[in-house]
Amino acid sequence: MTLPDNCVMVIFGASGDLTHRKLIPALYSLTADGALPKQFAVVGFARKPKTDESFRAELRESVSEHARVKPVDTAAWEAFASRVHYCQGDYGKPDDYARLEAMLKDIDAQHGTGGNRLFYVATPPEVYHAITEQLGLSGMARAENGRWVRIIIEKPFGHDLNSARELNTHVHRYFAEDQIFRIDHYLGKETVQNILVFRFANGIFEPIWNRRYVDSVQITVAEEIGIEGRGAYYESAGVIRDIVQNHLLQLLALTAMEPPAEFEADAVRNEKVKVLKAIRVDDSEGDGTVRGQYGPGKVAGQLVPGYLQEEGVALDSTTETWLAMKFLVDNWRWAGVPWYVRSGKRMPKRVTEIAIQFKMPPLMLFSKATAKAIEPNALVLNIQPDEGISLKFGSKAPGSGETIQPVKMDFTYSSAFDKAAPDAYERLLLDCILGDSTLFTRADEVEAQWEIINPIIDGWKAQGGAAIELYRAGKPGPKEGDDFIRKDKRDWRNLWS
Ligand SMILES: NC(=O)c1ccc[n+]([C@@H]2O[C@H](COP(=O)([O-])OP(=O)(O)OC[C@H]3O[C@@H](n4cnc5c(N)ncnc54)[C@H](OP(=O)(O)O)[C@@H]3O)[C@@H](O)[C@H]2O)c1
Repeated sequence: MTLPDNCVMVIFGASGDLTHRKLIPALYSLTADGALPKQFAVVGFARKPKTDESFRAELRESVSEHARVKPVDTAAWEAFASRVHYCQGDYGKPDDYARLEAMLKDIDAQHGTGGNRLFYVATPPEVYHAITEQLGLSGMARAENGRWVRIIIEKPFGHDLNSARELNTHVHRYFAEDQIFRIDHYLGKETVQNILVFRFANGIFEPIWNRRYVDSVQITVAEEIGIEGRGAYYESAGVIRDIVQNHLLQLLALTAMEPPAEFEADAVRNEKVKVLKAIRVDDSEGDGTVRGQYGPGKVAGQLVPGYLQEEGVALDSTTETWLAMKFLVDNWRWAGVPWYVRSGKRMPKRVTEIAIQFKMPPLMLFSKATAKAIEPNALVLNIQPDEGISLKFGSKAPGSGETIQPVKMDFTYSSAFDKAAPDAYERLLLDCILGDSTLFTRADEVEAQWEIINPIIDGWKAQGGAAIELYRAGKPGPKEGDDFIRKDKRDWRNLWS
C-alpha cells in the first residue's frame, strides 16, 4: 500500500450534514484502519460559532452513529480528535482566510503535517466561487516547495452547461486541473469500480459487450426516500440534475466506454469523455422523456405526503421526482442499442442496477409453447443495496417434458468477501490524499455530461414546463413511463416484487 503524505484537510461548511454524516466518519474509519498518514489534521471552517471542544463533541456523536468501524474505540477517537480543530469564519472574508492560514501554520508546527493541504468544499454551491477565490487570492492555493495543494469540490458542479463552464473557468484561475478533484461519490462505491474490473479483467464478457449481442440496457436508480427536507434545493434540481446528470451518466459511461490504453486517471477519463460525447437522447418521438412527480402514498407501510405537500415546494411545482429517458450511443460498438434509464424518489424500494439484456437466440428449436417461456439472458450489475452480479438464463426444469424456466447465477459481495466495503467517501478521500484522480470527474467530463442534459432542460423550458405525470408514492412511477418503453415492445424490469 502506498503511504499517503502527511497533510491537513480543511473542510469548508464543516457545520453541515455532509461533514457530520460522511466526511468525519470516513476519516475516523480510515484512521482506525491505519490508512491515513500518521501526521494528519483536520480543520473545520464554517460561520457558526464553535470551539475546538464543542466541534469535537458533536463529531464524536456523528462518528458513533455513522462510522463504518464500530464500536468507536475511545483511545483511537481521542487520538483522532486531538488533531481536529475549528476555525469560525466567513467564506468571502479575506481576514478570515489570513486567520485560517496562520492556524494551518501552527498546526504544521504542532502536528508535523508538513505543509500539504487538502481543501474540501462541502458547502452549498452558492459559496464555491467565494471559497476558491479567497484560497487563490490568499496564496493558499499555490503548491510550492514540493508541497501539494488539492481541492475537492462537491456536486452539484454547475446548474447547467454555462454555469459549469463558468465555474471551471473560475476555479482554473486559482487551481491547476491536476489540483482539482470534482467528487461524485457514486464513483467511490466498490460496485461501480467493479464495472471496469468485471469488463476488463475478464476475457469472456467484452466480446459480447456490443450491438451484435446486446438488445438493450436498462439503468435504474430508485430511491425510497423523498426529498428529506431539502425542498428548496430539489425545486431547482429535480431528478435530472440530482441523479441523471452525474451518477446515472457516470454509470452509463463506465458501462459503455471503450477499454482505456492503461488504468491511469487520464486514460480512463479520456475514454469516458469520448463515450459521453457519443450519447444523445433519442427524441425521435416527442422529447424522449417522461417526467413524473409523486403524490401522497405509502412507502414501507408508512403514509407519506406528496411532493407538493413537502416543505419548501411550490404549490404548483412541476419539478420532476421521476424521470425516464432513452439514450442512444452513437458509436460503432453501440449504434442502435437503446439505453433505457429511469430514476425516481418514493419508489417501492431502494435499488440501483445496470441490466444488460441480450438478444434472443437466432433460431428457436423448442415448441412454440416452450419457447414462450424463454426470457432473454440478462446480466445485472447490482450497484446497491444487494451488491453483486447476476446472470439470468433459461434452464430445463426437471422432468420428462421440455419445460424451460429462467434461473439465475448469482454473485454477491456479502457472501464472496468477509470484509465490509469501505464507504465511498473513505475511498475517495484516500485517493485524493494519494493524488489519484481516476475516480474524480475532469473539467471536460463534467461539461460533456452537461452537454447531454442541457438540451433536455432547454426543451422542457421551451414547452413552458414539460408535462408532469403523477404517481403514487410507493409505486414504481407513472403509467406513462410503462407506455414509453412498451412502445418499443419492451418492459421495465420488475425490481419490486
Ligand atoms: N449531505 C450529503 O449527503 C451530500 C451528498 C452528496 C453531495 N452533497 C453536497 O455537499 C455539499 C454540502 O452538503 P451538506 O448537506 O453538508 O450541506 P448543508 O448542510 O446545507 O451546508 C453545509 C454548511 O454550509 C454552510 N452554508 C449553508 N448554506 C449556505 C449558504 N447559502 N451560504 C453560505 N454558507 C452556507 C453552513 O455552514 P455555516 O452556516 O456554519 O457556514 C452549512 O452548515 C452540497 O453541495 C451538497 O450538494 C451532500
